[in-house]
Amino acid sequence: MLSGIPEVIDTDRTRLRRPRAADAAQVHANWTSDPDVTRFLPWRRHETVAMAASYLESLGVKWEEGSAHAWMITLPPSDDPVGLGLVRFRGEEAEIGYSLARSCWGRGLITEVAGALLREAFSVPSVTHVIAVLDTENTASARVAEKIGMRQVSTFTDLPHPNISDVPRPCFRYVIDRAADRAMR
Ligand SMILES: CC(C)(COP(=O)(O)OP(=O)(O)OC[C@H]1O[C@@H](n2cnc3c(N)ncnc32)[C@H](O)[C@@H]1OP(=O)(O)O)[C@@H](O)C(=O)NCCC(=O)NCCS
Repeated sequence: MLSGIPEVIDTDRTRLRRPRAADAAQVHANWTSDPDVTRFLPWRRHETVAMAASYLESLGVKWEEGSAHAWMITLPPSDDPVGLGLVRFRGEEAEIGYSLARSCWGRGLITEVAGALLREAFSVPSVTHVIAVLDTENTASARVAEKIGMRQVSTFTDLPHPNISDVPRPCFRYVIDRAADRAMR
């Protein structure tokens, strides 16, 4: 486990908190079963609450290992999960990811959350840069990456997006380094 990674993060409009087993039904209902939300995600859409439960369990294991930290996005005063933000740590590199219930799209929420994820990633001293990997057709996510200061650096073709096809699809790699992140704040 990385020391100092908080279990709760507050942004202007959201509260990020650690997932709980009891979240599974709402996670499933709110976004992991939704074809529109999961279209560009690297895992199969959850057809059952049990699949969402096992996903949450795997996130708990990764948190304890320190390989990835995932938070439920909530909108206070509600504690209901409406999305997820995560940071994966791989030495000098960290990767951020996010997803949000469709009913909450278009309000700038993920831009707000992604900024907080970048802050957490760079709070680990060994992290020199943060990346995001996204399907070349995921224009909303690309826009979020740009708005938080990330720049597209390359395209590669080795990421399966199983809700679209079993054939790996072209993805953009976006990156921001520590100096550029500081300049954004
Ligand atoms: C991508 C996603 C996280 C964005 O969440 P959001 O809270 O709606 O994002 P924001 O409101 O902060 O910003 C979205 C930006 O993309 C723009 N946008 C939205 N849909 C778009 C589209 N189809 N084409 C181009 N731009 C688009 C919005 O206008 C906004 O930019 P603006 O502020 O300049 O107007 C959300 O759509 C989602 O959960 N998608 C499914 C999961 C996913 O793809 N996750 C990313 C995997 S890499």
